[in-house]
Amino acid sequence: MAWQSNIISRTGITYDYRLVRAPAEIAGQFRQNFEHPRIAIAGPRRVAAQVVVSSRCAHNLGIGKAPTTRAQKTTPAAVHAPQPTDLRLGRIVRLLMEHATVVVSGTKIAEEISSTRSEVWRLIQQLRGLGVDVAGHPSTGYQLRSVPDLLLPEILRPLLRGTIFDKRLHHFYKIGSTNSAAMAAAAEDAPEGSVFLAEEQTSGRGRGANSWQSPRSTGIYCSVVLRPSLPPSDVLTLSLATGLAVQAAIRQVDSRVVPDLKWPNDLLIDSKKVCGILTEMNGEATRVRHIVVGIGINVNQESFPKDLPATSLRLATGSEWSRVELVAALLKSLDSEYQQLVEIPEARESILQRFAENSSWTFGKRVRIEENGSAFEGVTEGLDGRGFLQVRTPHGVQTVLSGTVRAR
Ligand code: BTN
Repeated sequence: MAWQSNIISRTGITYDYRLVRAPAEIAGQFRQNFEHPRIAIAGPRRVAAQVVVSSRCAHNLGIGKAPTTRAQKTTPAAVHAPQPTDLRLGRIVRLLMEHATVVVSGTKIAEEISSTRSEVWRLIQQLRGLGVDVAGHPSTGYQLRSVPDLLLPEILRPLLRGTIFDKRLHHFYKIGSTNSAAMAAAAEDAPEGSVFLAEEQTSGRGRGANSWQSPRSTGIYCSVVLRPSLPPSDVLTLSLATGLAVQAAIRQVDSRVVPDLKWPNDLLIDSKKVCGILTEMNGEATRVRHIVVGIGINVNQESFPKDLPATSLRLATGSEWSRVELVAALLKSLDSEYQQLVEIPEARESILQRFAENSSWTFGKRVRIEENGSAFEGVTEGLDGRGFLQVRTPHGVQTVLSGTVRAR
């Protein structure tokens, strides 16, 4: 099997791909879709491509170079086998929340989760270890002292009814990367709408070779599997729509906070990064097989190193945010954007227009674009019909396909 691996830098999105045995006309189409002149073609008949969509932008925290390529990292073999959260933990929390004013006996809990009292005690201890404030003892029964802000499926599912995200919610207390887990699951046919949430990531991935700092239960680390009937060229629009969905969700939880959108995928408050989006795609020449959209939001962090232009919602507002409320708002908002994009022909235009309206970076911003060691400067002049950033330079208008966009 012959294949060629390249990084295509376009759109603020970098496509890493492998092409396996492609007939010339398919490869031509592939090339057209990704607008890349260097593609190599080997052998007749079948084409398969693994495409990782990312770009090199600043992210939430310290930048570390990943030791391996993203394509390697997304193969199932490279993903640690993370243990999803014991579903009984969520059921206990739910039960205690539903009976918040009373002490619930160990026997009652054991009945509800079809287990034993000693197992309930063990699970309660686990919950305490995870920061859930449960009063009580096997002999007295248990009571929640405060509602835990854990992203447990049992808590989130009722808030997501009617969306594509309410059926397959996967929660992890600790995982390498929710995007890696979602990509591996998608390759194993995980259905559209599967959601991967973690309290903590040990190898959170940002765009390019950056890492994403993901301390326990302070941020939102969320990846969703989508299977749209869209050409790969529309993935940028989906990425932009995700930014709009995050912006709307934050605004919905606290209308005083309206983060700025920086093309293509950053959300900023006071020019500091509060959210990053990593979109990864596996597709063929003309069709998307699956997409994983990974969203990292700095929610309750109380500080960042001084030299890093990052902030959190807590730092921006002075008060703690409910991650449960925010992630529910986010997934509902993303569901709505996504449904429109796949169902309504005019949605793409609307997304581009709304992105431009809600981003101070899209028009009239003096910027420096850096890509692959070269750079140019100019003033932004909107998005083209495919979502690429237009920048006016002394040599005419340039279309920014990828690279880091910085303010001048
Ligand atoms: C960026 O560099 O701006 C993108 C950051 C994306 C981080 C999120 S956190 C959830 C998901 N899992 C990952 O490993 N990365 C994304």
